Amino acid sequence: MQPGPIGVFDSGYGGLTVLKEFVKKLPQYDYFYLGDNARAPYGSRSFDTVYEYTFECVNRLFAEGCHLVILACNTSSAKALRTIQQKDLHHFDSIKRVLGVIRPTTEIVKEYTKTNHVGIFATSGTVSSQSYPIEINKLYPEVIVHQEACPMWVPLVENNEITNSGADYFIQKHVDALLSKSDDIDTIILGCTHYPILLNQLRKFVPEQIKIISQGEIVANSLQDYLLRHNELETICSKNSQVSFYTTDFPDNFDKGASIFWGTEVNSKHILL
Ligand code: DGL
Repeated sequence: MQPGPIGVFDSGYGGLTVLKEFVKKLPQYDYFYLGDNARAPYGSRSFDTVYEYTFECVNRLFAEGCHLVILACNTSSAKALRTIQQKDLHHFDSIKRVLGVIRPTTEIVKEYTKTNHVGIFATSGTVSSQSYPIEINKLYPEVIVHQEACPMWVPLVENNEITNSGADYFIQKHVDALLSKSDDIDTIILGCTHYPILLNQLRKFVPEQIKIISQGEIVANSLQDYLLRHNELETICSKNSQVSFYTTDFPDNFDKGASIFWGTEVNSKHILL
C-alpha cells in the first residue's frame, strides 16, 4: 500500500494549533492540513450539518492518500466522529482510521485539577453535545465539569480581530460567566482548537492560579502513543517531513491568517470538496 500523509482537519485555522505540536513532536511524518474556512464556523451548526461537512472533508483527505485523519476540531469530534467511525469507515479500506481530540484531552484532566472542578470553554455545539462532561465523568466521576459556550471567539479568530478592545469585551464576558459558576475551578480546558490563539488575551482575565490547558501537546502525545501501538498504520504514514496546507476558501486569506500563529510563512492551496 502506498504511504500517505497524516490528514489534519479543522473548520478553519484552529487545527493549526494542533498541527504545530504534531510537527514539533513527530517531525518525521508528512501532514496534509485541510481547513474548511469557507464554511467556518461550525460551532453553532446542527449535528447533521457538522457531520455532513466533516465527512466530506474526511472523504477528501482519504482521496488524497491519507490513511489516518485527525479531526483537530472539537465540534467535529463531538458531533461527527462517532458516526464516521461507526457508520462510514467500513466503506473504506480497512486500514483507514479517524481520531478526534476530545478523548485524549479528557484523559489527562486529573493531572491538573486538585479541586475536582474543571472549566471548559468550547463552541455552542461542543457544549450542547455534553461530550466533555460525559467523557470526563466516565473516567473520573468525582470531577465536576462547568461549561461555557463562547460563540463569538471563533469568528474573532477567523477574522483576525483578536487584539482589539472589542475582542477583549467578548473574552472577559465569557471568562466572568465561567468563573461565576464555581469559586473552586482550578483548571480550564480550551475545548476548541481555535482558542489557544486567544491565550494572551485570556490570561488578562483569568486569575493566575487557574491553569489554562491547550490541547495541542496533549493530542500530539496521544498520537505518538497511538502510532507506537498501531504499527500497521504507522508504517504507511509517509515520512518526508513535509507539511502542506489546503483551504476551501481563498488561499491568500488563509496564508495571511495562518502565518500569524504558525510563525513562518504559509503557502496554502485551494481545495474543492
Ligand atoms: N476549531 C473548532 C473546534 O475545536 C472550531 C469550531 C468552529 O468552527 O466553530 O471546535
